[in-house]
Amino acid sequence: MVCGLLPPRGQARAQEKPLMAEDVFKNVQVLKGIPVNQFMETMGFFSAALGYNCTNCHGDEVLGNWAKYADDIPVKRTARRMIQVVNTINKDLFGGREAVTCYTCHRGSPSPKVVPSLLEQYSQPPEDDPNEVEISRRVSAAPAADEILNRYIQALGGAGRLAALTSFVGKGSYEGFDSYHGKVAFEVYAKATGQRTVIAHTQNGDSVTSYDGRNAWIVGPDKPVSVLQLVPGGDLDGIKLDSDLAFPGGLKQALTDWRTGFPTTVIDDRPVQVVQAMAGGSRVKLFFDKETGLLNRVVRYSKTIVGSVPIQIDYSDYREVAGVKMPFQWRLTWTDGQSMYILDDVQPNVTIDPAKFAKPLAPAAPVVAPAKVVR
Ligand code: HEC
Ligand code: HEC
Repeated sequence: MVCGLLPPRGQARAQEKPLMAEDVFKNVQVLKGIPVNQFMETMGFFSAALGYNCTNCHGDEVLGNWAKYADDIPVKRTARRMIQVVNTINKDLFGGREAVTCYTCHRGSPSPKVVPSLLEQYSQPPEDDPNEVEISRRVSAAPAADEILNRYIQALGGAGRLAALTSFVGKGSYEGFDSYHGKVAFEVYAKATGQRTVIAHTQNGDSVTSYDGRNAWIVGPDKPVSVLQLVPGGDLDGIKLDSDLAFPGGLKQALTDWRTGFPTTVIDDRPVQVVQAMAGGSRVKLFFDKETGLLNRVVRYSKTIVGSVPIQIDYSDYREVAGVKMPFQWRLTWTDGQSMYILDDVQPNVTIDPAKFAKPLAPAAPVVAPAKVVR
């Protein structure tokens, strides 16, 4: 009997501790003491900052094999050294503030530029990225957040109808890199009391994100850990935000520190009004269509140990369900990939088995690393 593996008496039912990177991975030398999910987001940050795939720093042998990520190859060693360089720059020159990140120098390329470009200097500046708008210093006659939010509630069908929608089950198609960008079936279960679960039936097994109102878990055949519990901060804030946005009647109370005063910006040729808030400890920007009042985009910023990563959701195809407008399509874009959710059918006010929101079971098949990297 393997006595060493049994939990000490009395601790068996203690609250589950989230797994740390060094509990799961074999060769973590710098990025220690962070939860597994944040570690993976840090890898996404690296990829985005350098315009790299996982294989550029880890070699092709990692395809289909999580264990191979532990091997050190020269470029991975360089990256590890760079983490130390960035930490030193911030500590010595900027009083420990996160002033410089990998992106500051790399800007999406493995070779930072040294010589300024005359072409760039004398060309039209590229179009502004709406995600980059920040609150302007000159306080403009921007409408208050309250005004924009009230208009949004009105555009959705009004507070009364929103309050009458207490649950829904949606079915449709999903595509993402875990479905090799092919369409597979997915379901969403949501309750106004704050629970939400999304299940995508990928070719290699179910990919599940479930939230019981307090705890959230991720299960997927392509994940490094069979059942990943999310920890407060970053990702748990994001999961709660998704659940709050499914029943927007309570949004004003669910988020805090509402701010406006952004310059007007444009998404897909449509002028949008931007409002900022805090979802738990994470900053969030909400982009409302100036004409329709509906929510077009949400960007939230998840902190990793080397900088913040943006996670963007674009909502479209609003249709009425029980008198409430609901987006039937949303696209999730983040540093590790892009996924599309399209609903075909939504059933409002149905009874949902509470088990749907509980901790999911580990996948039946063994966990394997993705066999190809699609970005
Ligand atoms: C810019 C280079 C770079 C990129 C791109 C990158 N990684 Fe890493 N990765 C590293 C470094 C450096 C470490 C070691 C960190 C340390 O020692 O603290 C690491 C460690 C890991 C580990 C831990 C392995 C172990 O058992 O010790 C995993 C898993 C991993 N990376 C997965 C990924 C995935 C998945 C991607 C793509 C989304 C990715 N990485 C992209 C540089 C990179
Ligand atoms: C102060 C600027 C600066 C910062 C900040 C910076 N780098 Fe670099 N990095 C460089 C320069 C310069 C090179 C060398 C490029 C060359 O040789 O063309 C480089 C090279 C690299 C390479 C080797 C690329 C290759 O394919 O050979 C990797 C990997 C890398 N950096 C990762 C990172 C990571 C990860 C971070 C953040 C933790 C980071 N860098 C932050 C300046 C920076």
